[in-house]
This record gives sequence, C-alpha cells and structure tokens, in this order.
Amino acid sequence: MPEVLLIGGASDAMLTRMEAACTLHQWADHDMAWLQSNGAAITHVVTNGGAGVQPAIMDALPNLKMISCYGVGYDSIDAAEAVRRGIMVTHTPDVLNAEVATTAVLLMLACYREMRRDDAYVRSGAWETHGAAPLTRSAENQTIGILGLGRIGQAIADKLAPWNPTIVYHSRSKKDVAYTYYADLTDMAAACDVLICITPGGPSTNKLVNADVLAALGPDGTLINVSRGSVVDEAALIDALQSGALGWAGLDVFEHEPHVPKALRDLPNTVLLPHAGSATVETRAAMGALTVDNLLQHIEKGTVISAIPECADL
Ligand code: DGY
Repeated sequence: MPEVLLIGGASDAMLTRMEAACTLHQWADHDMAWLQSNGAAITHVVTNGGAGVQPAIMDALPNLKMISCYGVGYDSIDAAEAVRRGIMVTHTPDVLNAEVATTAVLLMLACYREMRRDDAYVRSGAWETHGAAPLTRSAENQTIGILGLGRIGQAIADKLAPWNPTIVYHSRSKKDVAYTYYADLTDMAAACDVLICITPGGPSTNKLVNADVLAALGPDGTLINVSRGSVVDEAALIDALQSGALGWAGLDVFEHEPHVPKALRDLPNTVLLPHAGSATVETRAAMGALTVDNLLQHIEKGTVISAIPECADL
C-alpha cells in the first residue's frame, strides 16, 4: 500500500477512507529523526492550509509525488519548489466559496449593526436599566471594495446583492466584470465604505493592506479580512482602530494564529472569529471529501481533480 504522511488533523470520514487505501503515518506521532529514516517510503502527504509542508519535511521526502491540501489557501506550501521537484499539489477550491462568503457578510453586518455591543447590552440588563441602545449604522447602499476578485470574492459580491451595494475591486489584473476596477489599492480604499480582503496569502500580498490603505478607508470605514492574516499589517491595523483612523474591523484571520493580540481583543470596534470562514460541518465535510478524492485519484490513476494553478501542467 502507498505510504502517506498526514500532517494536521483529519475527520473520521477522511481517516476511514485513507486507512482503507494507504498506510497512514500521522506526523503528530513522529519527529524529524523518524522522518529521516522512513521518509523515502512516503509518496503522498495530506496536510492543511495552516500546517502546509515545511521545507525540512519536503527535504526529508525524496520520493514525494503529491501533496493534498485540505483548504483552498496553500501559502504554507512552497508551490514553486513543489513544481521544481515535480510534486503535484492539490487544494479544495469552490466547495467553500459560499461558506466563506457568508462569513464575510456576517462580519460586515456585525460591524455595521454593532451585534457585539447590542448583544452585551441585552445580556447585561442595560436595556432594562438604561432604555434603548444607541443607534447603529445601515449596511444598505454601501460602496464595497473587494481585494481579490477570485471565486470567493465573486461569491461575496453575489451574496451582498440584497444590501444594494456598489461593488468595486482591486486585483492583479482587470477582469471581464461589470464592477469598477482600481489598479491602486489605496485609491480604492479611499472610495470605499468597506474593504473586504479575500486575496491569497503569501509573499506577494504580505501586508498589502498597510497604514496608508487603512487611513484611506478612514474613520467611517470597515475592514473585513477573510483571507490570510499576513495580508494586513496587524500592528498598523491596531494603531488605526485605537486612534479612530479606521472605524471597524471584522477579522477571521490573524498574523500569528491562534494568537490574537490583546489590543485587538480589547477593542470595542472589532468582531473576531477563530479562522472559521469555512468551518461548518457541511462545508468541512465537502473539503475533507475533496482532499481524499484528490489523494486517492492520484494514487489510483496518477491524476487529480483540483490541482493548484501552479501545478496545472504537471
Ligand atoms: C482556506 O481553506 O484556505 C480557508 O482559510 C479555510 O477557512
């Protein structure tokens, strides 16, 4: 049976299917010394977007043929190096588009309608003692900038339709869509009420949302991040939220997960989620199924269902 290294967790459904078809080694049970002695037998890795495959692990697997990543984001895997070594990498696009889009919309609405504050208001009894809570802001008719108009970005734009937004976008290149394109992110932020980040992580987008972008979004602006923590300069974000240079932030992702700076946790104008953009039972089951489908199809036929773009020609 092919030998597979599992880095990170897997659901029971995934384990059952993998254990029936492969000899599964769980990285959690081993260390680098074990890998140095046994790595040559391993041909496949299953991992997730957070753990990825660290360079030392890739180096210890000279016969690695394929990496199946549970998650759409794969910035923790060196895709260029995988291509150079002829290693196929797959991920789980599309099956999570709707869920992550829902998370982005929820975060935006929670910021606009002060869901945290009003929930606390009711729970504390303040409604009875102090009367009605202060008014919130309407999310209707806002100009919403999407940073990264890929599949999930488009799903976010679609899901926002009932709030009658003006959608604009910034991405590496202009797309064949009806929304206004901004070649410059700061210019777009200056024109927006909301900036939603859904661009892939990695070196090319590192701290793309910097102090200038946040200042352009402004005191009435709302930042939503459902992409990667690395896309936003977290220190600049904290400064902007503390000083009032930026109004609100709804964040699903952070620079050093699961660590979330106390300053962000203490701020009243943030809504924070534990990287839960796709974290429903249904969507995670679909992601797990696609992860294992890719693995087993590669083992059985040498083909895959959803290669990362860099591996499309492998
Ligand atoms: C992914 O799949 O990359 C997402 O971050 C999961 O929520």
